[in-house]
Amino acid sequence: MNELTHTTTVGIVGAGPAGLLLARLLHNAGVDCVVLEARDRAYVEQRQRAGVLEQSTVDVLRDCGAGERLDQEGLAHDGIELSWNRRRYRIDFPKLAGGKRVWVYAQTEVVKDLIKLQLEDGAPLLFEATATSVTGADTERPTIHYTHGGVDRTLTCDYVVGCDGYHGVTRRAIPEGVLTTYERVYPFSWFGILADVAPSSEELIYAHSPQGFALLSMRSHTVSRLYLQVPNGTDPAAWTDEEIWDELDARFAVDADWKLQRGPITQRAVLPLRSSVTEPMRWGRVFLAGDAAHIVPPTGAKGLNLAAADVTVLARAFEQLHKTGDQTGLDAYSDACLSRVWRAEQFSYFMTTTLHADPAQSDFDTRLQLSQLDRIAASPHAATELAENYVGVALD
Ligand code: FAD
Ligand code: PHB
Repeated sequence: MNELTHTTTVGIVGAGPAGLLLARLLHNAGVDCVVLEARDRAYVEQRQRAGVLEQSTVDVLRDCGAGERLDQEGLAHDGIELSWNRRRYRIDFPKLAGGKRVWVYAQTEVVKDLIKLQLEDGAPLLFEATATSVTGADTERPTIHYTHGGVDRTLTCDYVVGCDGYHGVTRRAIPEGVLTTYERVYPFSWFGILADVAPSSEELIYAHSPQGFALLSMRSHTVSRLYLQVPNGTDPAAWTDEEIWDELDARFAVDADWKLQRGPITQRAVLPLRSSVTEPMRWGRVFLAGDAAHIVPPTGAKGLNLAAADVTVLARAFEQLHKTGDQTGLDAYSDACLSRVWRAEQFSYFMTTTLHADPAQSDFDTRLQLSQLDRIAASPHAATELAENYVGVALD
């Protein structure tokens, strides 16, 4: 791709999970595409983010040829634990959600697997290629303007898909009056760490505590991933390792023989929490997918799974167009995705508001949270509602 102007069928902006999976699915369906990614390969492969894959995401990755390492190294999880009032309660997924389970396999690994496949035999994937704008959304030839190697270039497409995350440029191709964004910003953030220590629990623990929320997760049998609720604007460098472990200890404390194992902290970052949906997810020949269209707070572990679901629906629609000339799949894309998106938004909001301590929260509000958690422990119906949402809805 040395010339300044190129053409393709589907131009994809962004090589996160959404853009990479879409490119693989289109390649397998015989649809021509090009992926443009602003960052370099090492950055994209090491960006610490999500950790939990729904069964439907695992199925799509396996079916498209990206399941080999996932099957060797992914950890199947049949439940999670909720912790409150110094007690724990286990949610048993297969029992409550029709035999379904989830997989712990980090987003970094999904991205590495997809990039490797793409570079081996896939469509062109350009790193350090920053899209500056997308024009002509309502024409037959939408165009991506980008810079690569210090040179301004253009990619003329039949369709453009914005997989460029929350801060991407693709959505700006759609006139302001067309899009509606529904949004909620939370008055707290997550402080996430990676630590070189075996996970202290075989299953994830979501903890409600008087000091705020904490989550114990993992990346492997030897690496733990943990999160603490902190005030917005917290500087991760301001905490010593010992302060972080002491705070985690306090939030996971239970009246039982259990101890949180400590180890060297190798990475730390603070991320703000947000819920956001932009509708519609398509205008003219421009489509939005993944975080470019919607954000969920990570408490429900849905972000990556929603991105995978969007592009699976979209790839099927492009395949239908390619094989038969039928556009009905593309026309149905936005509505088909938005019903799943809003379900995930509701669940992520529920998990977030039930488990976190809002700084403005009264004792009354805290009692309501604890009553909700007691209800989950007391009622198989309430537990089933949580389990079904956590494992996710199957893709038809
Ligand atoms: P992204 O992964 O954001 O990928 C977008 C890509 O587009 C990026 O590679 C970006 O560099 C590229 N890009 C942006 N602008 C341009 C441009 N102009 N030109 C070219 N390329 C561009 N979910 C969970 O379930 N659990 C978590 O713990 C969790 N943690 C998260 C932490 C952070 C800091 C963030 C931002 C998200 C987190 N999420 C988490 C959500 C989850 O990681 C996302 O939902 C998922 O990454 C969505 O994938 P995506 O491909 O749509 O977007
Ligand atoms: C993670 O392992 O990073 C993770 C797991 C579950 C969540 C959020 C993040 O809900």
